[in-house]
Order: sequence, then C-alpha cells, then structure tokens
Amino acid sequence: MKFDRRRFINRLIVGIAAIEAIVLIKGGITNKAKLSEDKKLIPVGKSDSYEKNHVYPFLNHHFYLKRFEDGGFLALSIKCTHLGCVINYNNTTGGFNCPCHASQFSPNGEVVASPASRPLDYYPITVKNGELYVDTSVVKRRKSFLKSQLTYV
Ligand code: FES
Repeated sequence: MKFDRRRFINRLIVGIAAIEAIVLIKGGITNKAKLSEDKKLIPVGKSDSYEKNHVYPFLNHHFYLKRFEDGGFLALSIKCTHLGCVINYNNTTGGFNCPCHASQFSPNGEVVASPASRPLDYYPITVKNGELYVDTSVVKRRKSFLKSQLTYV
C-alpha cells in the first residue's frame, strides 16, 4: 500500500511537470508567432512625409512604396512575377525593370514587357493614427491595376 502511494505521488509530479512544460512551450510558440506578425507590419511614417508621384524603396522589407499624383499609396513587391528576381526602379519611366530576363513594369506595377505575365504583387497598407503600416505578411496577387488597390489617408 505504501509503495502504491509513492508511485502515485511520483506519477502525479511527472504529470504536473509535463503539463507545465506543454504550457510553457505553447506560450513560447504563441509569443514568437505574435512577434513575427508584428515584425511584418512595417511602420513607414506619416503620409505627408512622402511626395506625390514618387517611389520610395524599402528593400530590406521587400517593397517599393509608391505615392501617386492623387495622394494614394501602393506598396509594390520587389519580386518580379516571372521568376522572382529583385526588380529595379527605373528613373526614366517611373516604372520597374527586371535585370534577369528584361521584364518591365509600369509605375503601378502592370506588365509592359514580358516574359512576366502578371502585374507585381502588392501589400496592404493600413493607417493608424495618421501613420502608414505596410503588412508584408499578406501578398496580394492581381490581374490588373485597380484604383481600389490604393490606400488613402
Ligand atoms: S525573373 Fe524577372 S523577367 Fe525573369
């Protein structure tokens, strides 16, 4: 009888330790997921710090931020939609060129020259307290440029 009680207590201790370990591990994973989500919401500042009809590179975060003449913002992915090379901004056209196979994109990301067959992807932009945030966790594919893809403050 005494042996059984000791065995029971040992198993109880092991069970409690296992539950605590699961809770700790799960909490750590949840916190890491939250951290990585926060890292992908990139703060880019106030809208009035951007001139109209200009492109601003955020290459570390994999996008170009374009402000259009009407004030709208579009965060374009730097990845070419052909095979994923990093595109370059073209000062002359205001669009983008791919150095790998010569695809060209217009200032709003539509294909001007193949082999790319679809426009550049873009990221949603949200506005909080007048600050712009680009959400790089969501890649938006599209068939063409629509004004509804722009964000206005
Ligand atoms: S990867 Fe850009 S044209 Fe091929």
